[in-house]
Amino acid sequence: MTMDKAIPKLGLGTGGRIGDDGAAAILKAIEIGYRHLDTAQSYNSEDSVGKAVRASGLPRGDFFITTKVADTRLNKAQFLPSVRASLDVIGVDQVDLLLIHWPSHKDAVPFEDYVLALGEAQQKGYARLIGVSNFPIALLERTRALLGPGAIATNQVEIHPYLQAPKLVAYARSIGLTLTAYQPLAKGEIRDDPVLSKIGAAHGVSASAVALAFLMAEGHVVIPSSSSETNLRGNYAALAVSLSEAEMNEIRALNRGYRRINPEKSPRWDD
Ligand SMILES: NC(=O)c1ccc[n+]([C@@H]2O[C@H](COP(=O)([O-])OP(=O)(O)OC[C@H]3O[C@@H](n4cnc5c(N)ncnc54)[C@H](OP(=O)(O)O)[C@@H]3O)[C@@H](O)[C@H]2O)c1
Repeated sequence: MTMDKAIPKLGLGTGGRIGDDGAAAILKAIEIGYRHLDTAQSYNSEDSVGKAVRASGLPRGDFFITTKVADTRLNKAQFLPSVRASLDVIGVDQVDLLLIHWPSHKDAVPFEDYVLALGEAQQKGYARLIGVSNFPIALLERTRALLGPGAIATNQVEIHPYLQAPKLVAYARSIGLTLTAYQPLAKGEIRDDPVLSKIGAAHGVSASAVALAFLMAEGHVVIPSSSSETNLRGNYAALAVSLSEAEMNEIRALNRGYRRINPEKSPRWDD
């Protein structure tokens, strides 16, 4: 591995990028410059991520690959074998980041079991970094108590201009934990937002790029997805956008606690 420890600020969401078409779309993103690829056991895109990485001809060390253990595989018998299987499907010896995708609903699997298994996966060398997803503050505190401060590299959660999650963000900042914003474009819903569009026009970029630049400036990692080359390029351009404090404040005011992903299995959210 040649990459340093940090998670690259902008990654590619690969939900829905399955099969050969999915691999081709991911390869296109790699050609544009994306190196951080976010997959999961439940997306069926681990295979296309591996294929795209190999087809790029670039060294493995140029990439930052994340996968996630499905909530159906958190029990002691399945956790580590499922991670081993993910490595085989992707075609790597180690992922850069391994996440627990969702906490176990109603503690069907004891919390200690799967959090300790996550730590064990790292000790075994299956993952360089470990983290969680969809964890509220209470579960982050329990994770910290079990694995120690600084053990997890991120909590991947829904965050976008319409759901800025101030309580969770304040807590994460207080313990130095990076948040990864999933659905950072609210699944495309912010694309015509008048405030983001106006700021985008001033910077010569799309409303979506402004949303991503805003989230990164707030300290978050972002993992937008797109099936369109134009949008992949437009989103990547967010890395070069620098917003003024006045613009940041205008976008902060867009928060309306609008949560898109809230299945029955969700924990009790903080925001
Ligand atoms: N941990 C979790 O539980 C969890 C849950 C959900 C998602 N995720 C991760 O987050 C990633 C991203 O989430 P997501 O794909 O659901 O939502 P998203 O990235 O917020 O939005 C993707 C949608 O926005 C559109 N879009 C993208 N760029 C655009 C642009 N520049 N202008 C206009 N529209 C644009 C796309 O349409 P086009 O294809 O037409 O561009 C697509 O419909 C997923 O792939 C996955 O890796 C994680």
